[in-house]
Amino acid sequence: MSRVVIVTGGTRGIGAAISTAFAKAGYKVAATYHGNDQAAAEFTAQTGVQHFKFDVSDFAACEQGVANIVAKLGPVDILVNNAGITRDAFLHKMTAAQWHEVIGTNLNSVFNMSRQVIEGMRTREFGRIVNISSINGQTGQVGQANYSAAKAAIIGFTKALALESASKGVLVNAIAPGYIDTDMVRAVPPDVLEKIIAKIPVKHLGHADDIARMALFLASDDNKFATGATFTVNGAQYLT
Ligand code: CAA
Repeated sequence: MSRVVIVTGGTRGIGAAISTAFAKAGYKVAATYHGNDQAAAEFTAQTGVQHFKFDVSDFAACEQGVANIVAKLGPVDILVNNAGITRDAFLHKMTAAQWHEVIGTNLNSVFNMSRQVIEGMRTREFGRIVNISSINGQTGQVGQANYSAAKAAIIGFTKALALESASKGVLVNAIAPGYIDTDMVRAVPPDVLEKIIAKIPVKHLGHADDIARMALFLASDDNKFATGATFTVNGAQYLT
């Protein structure tokens, strides 16, 4: 049996590593994206993973997008809520647009997408949801009141949904990556990034595959007991 997986933001960065890991392990993968058509086309050409374009911050778009995926690949067994953006600014300079964009894409998306798949998972008595949080949701971060709020809220969402779903074979977990070598982290001003790396005990950025391997286990049939938890993968930068 080949299980069906949706990875939001699945054509770039951590999401691309997650989509690729699932595809290599024999899953049927749908990678969603919103903005970068060229990156999505290149990703599909390189990996063979199908991409689906819709805005995960928009509930109606998610309804339509997930229906398209189900029509092509079948009912969804696994959802990885990975899509995320940054709009970093000190709060005294942050615009309402910067706040709402981050909350929409990073947090509302988790509701919008999980809501599409949860009923089917409960009915079939199998499901795995993996939510990508962040070290910055656990610790806070300068310039990220919006991002830290969204990523912290994901941890609460994960706990609540895990409790609701535990008796139905649906396991829900979060991963809190540290600083991973992606375009998002490389967009941090170089002098600031240098300061951040100096504080990581392993002394280097993580790799997207470090997160993909964790997601693959949490979503697998082998995971029968881990649920409601947040798994940190951060080179010991923050110990929970
Ligand atoms: N850690 C430590 N110090 C920081 C910092 C950080 N993350 N961000 C900013 N600072 C410091 C700067 O070094 C600077 O210090 P000095 O005055 O001593 O030089 C001070 O705060 C002011 O910073 P700027 O001069 O850069 O001020 P600005 O208004 O031009 O920009 C900012 C502010 C938008 C917050 C910018 O500094 C920035 O982008 N910082 C990085 C924020 C960050 O870490 N984002 C994480 C993105 S990666 C991610 O989110 C993925 C994940 O999940 C881990």
